[in-house]
Amino acid sequence: MTSLPLILLVAAAAAAALVHYSNATVFPRPSEDENGSDYWLKLGREEIEEALLKPTLTNVAKNVILFMGDGMGITVNTASRIYKGQKKHGYSGEEGHLVWEKFPNIGLLKTYDLDKQVSDSASTATAYLCGVKANYYTVGVNGHVKFNDCPASLIEENRPASILQWAQEAKKDTGFITTTQVTHASVAASYAKSANRKWQCDKKMKKFGPDTAACKDIARQLVEDVPGKHFKVVMGGGRQEMGSPKTDITEDNCKRSDGMNLVRDWINHKEENGKSYAYVTTTRELQSIDTKNTEYILGLFGEIHMPYETDRDTSLDGCPHIKEMVEVAINRLKNSDNGFFLFVEGGMIDNALHITSPKRALEEVLAFEEAVELALTMVNTEETLVVVTADHSHGMTINGYPPRGNDILGIVTESEDVSDGLPFTTLTFATGHGFNYSFNGNEVVRPNLTGVDTTDKDYVPLAAIPTHYDYETHGGEDVAAFAVGPWAHLFHRVHEQTHVANVMAYASCTGPYKDCHRREVTASSEPVTKNPERRSSGATGLLPGNIFIFVVAVQILSV
Ligand SMILES: *[C@@H]1O[C@H](CO)[C@@H](O)[C@H](O)[C@H]1NC(C)=O
Ligand SMILES: *[C@@H]1O[C@H](CO)[C@@H](O)[C@H](O)[C@H]1NC(C)=O
Ligand SMILES: *[C@@H]1O[C@H](CO)[C@@H](O)[C@H](O)[C@H]1NC(C)=O
Ligand SMILES: [Zn+2]
Repeated sequence: MTSLPLILLVAAAAAAALVHYSNATVFPRPSEDENGSDYWLKLGREEIEEALLKPTLTNVAKNVILFMGDGMGITVNTASRIYKGQKKHGYSGEEGHLVWEKFPNIGLLKTYDLDKQVSDSASTATAYLCGVKANYYTVGVNGHVKFNDCPASLIEENRPASILQWAQEAKKDTGFITTTQVTHASVAASYAKSANRKWQCDKKMKKFGPDTAACKDIARQLVEDVPGKHFKVVMGGGRQEMGSPKTDITEDNCKRSDGMNLVRDWINHKEENGKSYAYVTTTRELQSIDTKNTEYILGLFGEIHMPYETDRDTSLDGCPHIKEMVEVAINRLKNSDNGFFLFVEGGMIDNALHITSPKRALEEVLAFEEAVELALTMVNTEETLVVVTADHSHGMTINGYPPRGNDILGIVTESEDVSDGLPFTTLTFATGHGFNYSFNGNEVVRPNLTGVDTTDKDYVPLAAIPTHYDYETHGGEDVAAFAVGPWAHLFHRVHEQTHVANVMAYASCTGPYKDCHRREVTASSEPVTKNPERRSSGATGLLPGNIFIFVVAVQILSV
C-alpha cells in the first residue's frame, strides 16, 4: 500500500523529465560498464599499449596527401565526433572518434598571420602549403606583399613556391580537390601568387585601379602558369571564374569581363601537347573517366562553389560527393612511378559555419571524413604520409552543461546556470546574426526555444555579436594536425602552421629538402629510463655534435 504513492511520484517525475526533453533527444551510452572503474582502467591500459607500439617511420614518403577541413577547429572537430556517434551509431557520441583521431601523431598549429591575430584561408594556406607566413587576404606571396599590392607580388623573391611545385620538380604527379571554387583562397595558394584572394577573375581586379593591370587573375594562373598548368587533377566548383558557365546564373561572384574561356584554353593546351584529358561536370561523367589512360582531369561541378552535402543533387546528373572525387583522383595519381602529392580541401565546412548552420557544417565534416577513410583504404600509409588539418578555427562554442548523449544539435532545457530559465542550444556562435533579444514590455528577453527544431539545417543559433550580412567570423585558437605515415612523428608539439609544409617536404624529399639528407639520430628505440644518471646530465637524447658544442660553450664561459 505504502509503495503505491511512491511509484506514482516516480512516474510523475519521469513524465516531467520526458516533457522537458521532448525536443532534445538523449542518445544512450554504448557501454553499460562505464560506471565502474574496470572499464576505464582497461581502456587506459589499451591506450598505453598503443602509445608504446607507436610506429616511427623514417623512410622517404613516396606520396603525400594533405586533407584540410576549412575552418575545422577543435570545437567543430569535437561536435562532429559527437554528431557522428549519434547519427551513424545511435549512441551518445562523446566516446566515439573521427577516423583521424586515431592517427598516431598530432601537433597543434598557431594560425595567426603576419598582420592579424585571427587569420583567413589565404594567408594560412600560404603558411601550410608554401611554408611562409603572409599578410591577411594575400595568396602565395610573402610578407613583403601588402594587401592589394600588385607590383610587390610580381617581385620574384616575394613569390615562394608551394609544396605542389616542389613535388612537380621531384617529378611527382600533383593535384587538388576542393568543394569550393577551384580559384578559392585555400587551393589558390597551391598555384597562384596574388595580393588579394578575391582576384579570382579579371573583373574583380579592375575595381582596384590601374595598378592591378600588370597582375594576372587567379583563374588564369591556374590554367596558364607553373605549377597549375601541370596539375594532373583539378576538381571543385568555379565554372564562372573559369569563364565557362553551363547555366545562366544570376549570382555574380566573379564573372569574367575579358571573354576568356579558360576551360577551352585548358583543353587546347592538352591537345596541342598531345596529352589525354577529361573535362567533366557531373557525377556520371566523373565516374566514366578511364583513370588508367587519362593523364589530366579537370572537374568543375559548380558555377560558383559546389553545393553543401545537405543540399546536393545526389543523382548521376548532379555533382559528386567529396569521396567520389578523391577516389578518381587517387586512382589517377597512383599511376605515377615517382609518387604523388594530393591536396584535398573540405571547403564548405567553413561556408556552413560562416552562415551559422551547425547541421550543414557537421554534415560537411562527416562527408570529409568519409573521403579520408576511403583514401586510407587506397594507399599504403607505410609509404604515404597523410596529414589531416584545418586552416583556422571559428567562433563556435559547445555550451555547458547538456546531459551526456544530448543531441549535439539540440537544446539544453534545464539549466541551473542560466538566469532567465530559458532553454539554449548546445552550439552557439560568438558572432553572426546576433542575439535576437526582444522587449516583452517589462524586460529584454531571449526567444523561448521550446518547440523550435534546432536540428534543422536552416536553424540559426543565437550569436553574441551581430555582424554585417549575419556573416560569422573565424576563430583564432590553434588548430590540430593529425598525421600518419613516414615522418608523421615530426608533428609533436605546438608548431607554427608553416611546419606542415616543411614536414611534407622533408618526408618526401622535395623542395628545401630535395637533397634527402637525413641527419644521424641516436637510436631512438633505446629507452631513456634505462640510464637514469645520463638523463640527469641533461645530455640524453642530444646528438653527439650537440654535446660537443655544449661542452665547448661551457668551456668558453668558464674561461
Ligand atoms: C550507470 O549510471 C547511470 C547514471 O547514473 C545510470 O542511469 C545507469 O543505470 C548506470 N548503469 C549501470 C549498468 O550501472
Ligand atoms: C517557454 O515556453 C514553454 C512552452 O510554451 C513554456 O512552458 C515555458 O514556461 C517557457 N519558458 C519560460 C521561461 O518562459
Ligand atoms: C527572433 O525571435 C523571434 C521570436 O522572439 C522569432 O520569431 C524570429 O524567428 C527570431 N529570428 C531569428 C533570426 O532567429
Ligand atoms: Zn572562412
